[in-house]
This record gives sequence, structure tokens and C-alpha cells, in this order.
Amino acid sequence: MLRGSYAIVAIKQDEPGKLLFARNKSPLIIGLKDEENFIASDIPAFLKETNKAVILENGDYGYITENSYEIRNLKGSADRKVQEINWDAEAAEKEGYDYFALKEINEIPRTTEDTMKSLEDLTPVAEEIRKYSRIMFTACGTSYHAALYGKYLFNSIGIRTEAVIGSEFASVKIGKDDLVIAISQSGETADTLSAVEKAKKEGAKILSISNVLGSSLEREADFSIHTLAGPEIAVIATKTFSAQMLNLYLLYKMIKGERPETGLEKMQRKVLELEPDIRKIAEKIQEKENAYFIGRGLGYPLAMEGALKLKEISYMHAEGMPAGELKHGTLSLIEKGTPVIVPLLPEMYDKTISNMEEVKARGGLIFALSWEGDEKVGNVASEVLRVPKTGNEEYPLLYILILQLLAYHVTVLRGLSPDKPRNLAKCVTVE
Ligand code: G6P
Repeated sequence: MLRGSYAIVAIKQDEPGKLLFARNKSPLIIGLKDEENFIASDIPAFLKETNKAVILENGDYGYITENSYEIRNLKGSADRKVQEINWDAEAAEKEGYDYFALKEINEIPRTTEDTMKSLEDLTPVAEEIRKYSRIMFTACGTSYHAALYGKYLFNSIGIRTEAVIGSEFASVKIGKDDLVIAISQSGETADTLSAVEKAKKEGAKILSISNVLGSSLEREADFSIHTLAGPEIAVIATKTFSAQMLNLYLLYKMIKGERPETGLEKMQRKVLELEPDIRKIAEKIQEKENAYFIGRGLGYPLAMEGALKLKEISYMHAEGMPAGELKHGTLSLIEKGTPVIVPLLPEMYDKTISNMEEVKARGGLIFALSWEGDEKVGNVASEVLRVPKTGNEEYPLLYILILQLLAYHVTVLRGLSPDKPRNLAKCVTVE
């Protein structure tokens, strides 16, 4: 009689040693250990106890006891494999950090290192991408900002690419020659899954980029990329976002026939050393009511993500936009002391600087993200955070750590928890 998406676990009064379950379109996973079994909506819930998991599928129902389990399916057989999860249990602990968010930001260089080591896994995907006449990204929230970054990269090498938010995908016409790249950290976001369902109905092939093994998205996809960020516990996406961007960057480089920049993880470690300076800027921002993030080209998705991160955890009103759009409305809100954060890039550098001048002329406080040796920015910005000098496409992979740390510190300074923002969930399984 049940309809829609659900994951239910129930216990019968007269059989307390038996947990009954049913799932459809919401995650449910069994954890197996000797003389002890588990059932949860996510792997980290039992990872400390066991790394053996059975990932349930739509229509599965059954029961577990301490030493047995049975799975049936509404539509047919339910022969589910036992999978070994290679996340280590410590990855789901705070390990001395005050918050998971901070720990997870600090894990970005390690994720980068792991991703670079398994670079060859991306080669067949890069070849596949070349076969399609159009790439359609779809994603929600933070993952959509990774999609935007991917769109800019792919367009720059002549691949027709669009990025559409999952919940808006219903109004897009999809063709058989399209490849839909669905990005989702959890692989369970309802809006992204319905976008994929529609795209499949209309004949498109699906490539998924997800951080969770066996997720619904991965099972729906024709090809998949696994981001190697390990479990992410804080509600805000940090290391998984940076891993999504990195994978898109690597695909772009492969398609272009270039080698990716080496030493990215080292540069990211250097960026983490800026934390005391970032905290000082957070001190200046934390009492404000509004903050604006502006960027051009690849700086635009970053501006969007910087604003989203700040508003979702610190509850400060923040907006991200293309720097050129500022003069079309938002400039009227800039007054003395309004913070404006600018991820500056070599592309459209002079134009972005002139947007910063417009802000400065109205008394706005400009915090710029730039690189070692960029002199000009110092004349216009109130403060500059400098990362090691690298290329235009690589700066976002460094700047993102600054934007995440900034949101984190503003939040902590405001006495709030960056791990559990009010009203928000890590995984949104409703449309
Ligand atoms: C929720 C989370 C966001 C996330 C979005 C998409 O809203 O709070 O942090 O970006 O879902 O999640 P996904 O798992 O699809 O990347």
C-alpha cells in the first residue's frame, strides 16, 4: 500500500530479535558482522563495527536478526552481493578536530593525492565523453556548482555543454546523442534522480559522479566515477565538492590531451596554512548582515559556492554572482563596510579589477583571493589571500579551501555549529 520514497525499519512486539525493513528510492544498507548485524541509511553509521555491507535496492524488503538476514523484492529476485567497503572507520571520527567540517576541509589534499594516483580510471570516461554531441550536467546545491565549473571547462574546448539544476531538468529537451552527467555526493538526491529518470526515458546515456558506492544514482547510470573523498559527515559538502571539481578538471585535461598540473595537493596544503589569515578576515565579516561573492569565468561557480557555504552554516545573508552582473542591481546594496569576496583569476582579470573598483568607490570592503606575485590587486582590495602561482583552471581547486574555511570560521565565531545547520539535511530524498 506504500507509495513514493521510503526506508522503513520496524520491530514486532512479539519478535524483538527481528528487525523488519522495506525500502524504495531512499537508502537502506545492511551491515554484517559475526553474531551482530546492522541496518542504517548510511554506511558510516556502522563502519566502526563492520565494513561488510549489503546495499538494498528499490522494492527490497525483509528482515535481519543478530546472525541472519533475508531479502526479498516486490518485483522479483533479490540476490544482493556482500560488499567490502574500503573506507576506514577513523574517517568517520573527528580525530581531534572540533568539527567534522574542519576535519573534512583538511582532508582535501589527501583526497587530491588519492585521486591523482588513480588517474587511469578516468581515461575510458574521457574517451566516452568525446562521443557525444552535447553534455548536459545536472545536480543540486553544491554539486551544481561543480557542474558549472565543468561546464565552463568543457565549453572552453569546444564541447557543447549545459548545466541544469536537478529540479529544473523537467523542462529541458534531451536527445539520444546527449550524455547527461549527474553529479551528487550522496547519489540519493531526489531531484537529481528524477532528472536522470527523465533523461533515460528520453534516450540519453548517464554518467554519474558520486561519493557513495552503490548509491541509487550509481545504479541508474551507464558509467560512473567514484570520488575518493571517503565518508563526509558534516552536512555541508567540502571535500566531496573539491573531489568533484578535481575529477572534472582531470577529464577536461585528458580530453584536451594535456597533462594535469602536478603538485596540486602540495599547493592545497600551502593554502591550508593561510587559516590564521582567513580567521582574521572572518572576524571582520562575522558581525555583518550581508556578504557578496563575485567572480568571472571559472570564478563565477566559486563565487556561487562561497556564498552558499557562508549562508548555509553561518545564517548570514550571502549572494554569489558573475562580477559583471553587480552593476545591474546588486551595486545598490553596496555601502560602507559591505564585505565583497572576489576569487580573482587571470581570465578577465582587468574587468574583474574594475568591478572591484566600483565596489571600492562605494566603501565596500574587498577581500580578494589571488596568487603570489599579483601586484595590482593590492591597490584595490582591503585584504588579499594569496595562493601559490598556478594556472587559471587550477586556481578554483585552491581557492575553494579558502572559501570553505572562511564560512567555517564565520560560523564558529558566531557561536554556531558548522556541522549541523538548522533546517538542512545532508541528503535530501524529497522533491
Ligand atoms: C543537500 C545538502 C547540500 C548538497 C545538496 C546536494 O541540500 O545539504 O550540501 O549540496 O543536498 O547533495 P548531493 O548529495 O546530491 O551532492
